[in-house]
Order: sequence, then C-alpha cells, then structure tokens
Amino acid sequence: MGKVTVSGRIALITGGARGMGLLWAEHLVKDHSRVVLWDLDGAELERAAERIQSLGGSVLTQVVDVTDRAAVYAAAVAAQSQMGPIDILINNAGIVAAGKFTEMPDEKLSATIDVDVKALLWTMKAFLPGMIERGAGNIINISSASGFIGVPYMPAYAASKWAVIGMTESLRLEMELEGHTGIKFTLFCPSYVDTGMFAGVKPPLLTPILTPEIAVKRAYKAFRRGDYFILEPFIVKFTPALKALLPRGIFDRVSDILGVNTSAKGVHGRK
Ligand SMILES: NC(=O)c1ccc[n+]([C@@H]2O[C@H](COP(=O)([O-])OP(=O)(O)OC[C@H]3O[C@@H](n4cnc5c(N)ncnc54)[C@H](O)[C@@H]3O)[C@@H](O)[C@H]2O)c1
Repeated sequence: MGKVTVSGRIALITGGARGMGLLWAEHLVKDHSRVVLWDLDGAELERAAERIQSLGGSVLTQVVDVTDRAAVYAAAVAAQSQMGPIDILINNAGIVAAGKFTEMPDEKLSATIDVDVKALLWTMKAFLPGMIERGAGNIINISSASGFIGVPYMPAYAASKWAVIGMTESLRLEMELEGHTGIKFTLFCPSYVDTGMFAGVKPPLLTPILTPEIAVKRAYKAFRRGDYFILEPFIVKFTPALKALLPRGIFDRVSDILGVNTSAKGVHGRK
C-alpha cells in the first residue's frame, strides 16, 4: 500500500489513449481506481478502453481537444456526472515541435504552447474547485528533463516543460497558503522515453531511453509513495543541481560531450 490512496478513486488522464498516459491508467485500474481517458484520437481511445476493460477496469473515454477551453469545461462536467468527482488529474497530453527554429512553422510552435502549457490551465481550472470543496485531490503534471535545461532544436517544447514546473510550483504553494493542504501535486520529469513521440532522437550518453513501461512503473511507484518531484532516469536526478552549481561554460561543455545538445536534432516524431 502506498501513501497515496488510489483504490476507489477516479482518475482522469489527458492524452490517455496511448503511450505513457495509457500506462498510468493501467496501473491505476490494477489498484482499483476508475479512469476517464481524454484524447484527440477516437480510434486509439477505443483500443485503450478495450485494454482497460480487459484488466477488469471501469473506464469512460471522451474525445476532447485539451486546447479547446470550452470543450474541456463541458467534458469535465459530463465526465463527473457519469463517473463521479475526479480525485486524480494527470495532465499527460503533449506534443513536440522539433527542428531548426527559423524553419519551424509558426503553427507548430504555437500548438506546442497550447497543448503543453495552456491546456493544463484549463484542466486544472475545471477540476481544482471540486477538489478544494472536497478537501482532497492529486494533480500529476508531466514535465520533462527538458524542464530545467535548454534543448537545442526544440525551444518551444523546452519552454513548455519549464512552464509546467513553474505553474505547478506556484499552484502547490498557493494551495498551501490558502489552507487547501489536501491537494497534492506531483511533477514527473523523464528524459527520453520510447513511445514514438521522439522518434529519431539520439540518446545522450549515460541517459538510456526508457521504455514507457519502466518510466511509468517508476513514476507510479514514486507517486504512490507521495514523492513530489520525480526525475528519471538516474542521471536526471542530478541535472538541476549540476546546472545550478557548475559555471555555465562547463555545464554547456558537459552537455555537448554527453550529446544532450544534439540529441533532438534528428527528431521527426511518430509517422
Ligand atoms: N516520450 C518522451 O520521450 C517524453 C519525455 C519527457 C516527457 N514526455 C511527456 O510525457 C507526456 C506523454 O508523452 P508520450 O511519449 O506518452 O506521448 P504520446 O505521443 O505517446 O501520447 C500523447 C497523447 O496525447 C494526445 N494528444 C496530443 N494532443 C492532444 C490534444 N490537443 N488534446 C488531447 N489529447 C492530445 C495524443 O493523441 C496522444 O495519444 C507528454 O506530456 C510528453 O511531453 C515524454
């Protein structure tokens, strides 16, 4: 039994049709949560629902574009009237725009901020009031190892993941100051994970690409334990401290040598 209770609770996972989102859902239903999955991709959502049901889980799927604020608010009302109040929100939906900045279409840069940053504001606006009223809730925001370092060839993505950390830190403190101590936040910051999102990546030295299964298994265990800041794999745990302590030139050089700075150069994403 972990410190965070999930049994009998209802979890909503954005981008839950595939990849790490679906794996979070699988862990939760195995531990007797019920799940709501939101995604843009209806066909993948159907497959995801079958997978959850094959595990004996109770699932509601909704095709929702998390960048559509009105759709988020409407789907939140519908989900809660069908399933009950959402106790656990996992902001997992994400997209990446990778390539040379000056050649990147404006729409891709803008969409990255819409999905990876602004959508979190709408989902948290939708579910936090209910959590506050009930005096309890968990919000897991997915940032990344790129949430505290620069990553050439994906500035909008890195910006979005830095923003997720700033947003989560701010809200965590605000909830405490306002006396809503039953609302708990978790930040998950993995390096590259083999879901297809970053297809074409060249993994840095000492930073193995994690399988989605391992990444989510570790994150889920840490979440249940009550951890706030979850960094994976091992080397990522040291990155914020190294960045703060090393002179910038040395940190840049180490990142060059390890191949961090060129890791995203060939990213083309899922075909
Ligand atoms: N894969 C990695 O290497 C990696 C590393 C660090 C952090 N992350 C983060 O982890 C999260 C999950 O990544 P993943 O690799 O499982 O991704 P994925 O591409 O496998 O799954 C993301 C899901 O989000 C959905 N989605 C995208 N835009 C949406 C929108 N507007 N509305 C609703 N759903 C939408 C997609 O349809 C997809 O099903 C993302 O936030 C990502 O940034 C991934």
